[in-house]
Amino acid sequence: MLGEVIGEGAFGVVLKGQLVNDQYLTNLDNKSTNQSINVAIKTLKDGSSEKDLLDLVQELKVLKMIGRHENIINFIGCCTERSPLLVVVEYAPHGNLKDFLRKRRKKFSKKPLQPHGGDDGDDRELTYGDLLTFAEQIAEGMQYLASKMCIHRDLAARNILVGHGITMKICDFGLSRNIHNNDYYKKFSDGRLPIKWMSPEALFDRKYTPKSDVWSYGVLLWEIFSLGGTPYPGVSIEKIFYLVKQGYRMERPVHASMDMYGVMLDCWMDDPTLRPSFKDIINQIRKNKIQKQ
Ligand code: ADE
Repeated sequence: MLGEVIGEGAFGVVLKGQLVNDQYLTNLDNKSTNQSINVAIKTLKDGSSEKDLLDLVQELKVLKMIGRHENIINFIGCCTERSPLLVVVEYAPHGNLKDFLRKRRKKFSKKPLQPHGGDDGDDRELTYGDLLTFAEQIAEGMQYLASKMCIHRDLAARNILVGHGITMKICDFGLSRNIHNNDYYKKFSDGRLPIKWMSPEALFDRKYTPKSDVWSYGVLLWEIFSLGGTPYPGVSIEKIFYLVKQGYRMERPVHASMDMYGVMLDCWMDDPTLRPSFKDIINQIRKNKIQKQ
């Protein structure tokens, strides 16, 4: 069942939907019920081009190939028999991470570490401990993607959705590529480039590797610890090329500890081989959690 529009791009659209009486539901709880679940349905608008369709087909391929993980938006099914193509994925009730953090700016608690008690309420107070947990969960999702040889290429807070139990879920695989697919040097088909999240080698040489995702993850950390701030505030896109080449790095966001800022700076090492792996990042975040307790 198709419902309201919950996301929109130039030619793509995401609708809320309900899955009823489906085999997927039967598998979920191992018994036959008439329950329904909310889902998100990605499809194309009228007037979309062949390239838009190719991007959606690419996303479908990646979703099918990577399998399931708690910290990604999981694939549920698709309808390829007739036009338009429908790609059905998990629905995340709390929207994207950037808006989620911005909405809670006034409710941020400065108390050192308070893990949340699984309270899924929309206006729950956020803590520093929550920010560390968000960072850790996203790194876990990224480690899983990297283990599946998948490069995301557009990792940013706008592409993290917040699911039930305030679980971080990486989404938008439309631009992602499998490492073995040597078109990962290719320009995005709509020409759109997430300049402020791109590593120097991606900016200057169009070279995407798991380590360029690590750079973007560093920018995403900056977004988390500024509670949804816009990276390089007040800096124009044209100036980013110059600044990144000169070795300029963003300052510590207001809610980051020195240790977490250290992780950001490591992610922004000029030499990709010197950047940490997602496994290293997870270990660093866990150490930080223990120290703050
Ligand atoms: N917006 C885009 N994709 C979504 C999803 N899977 N759940 C909720 N909102 C979305």
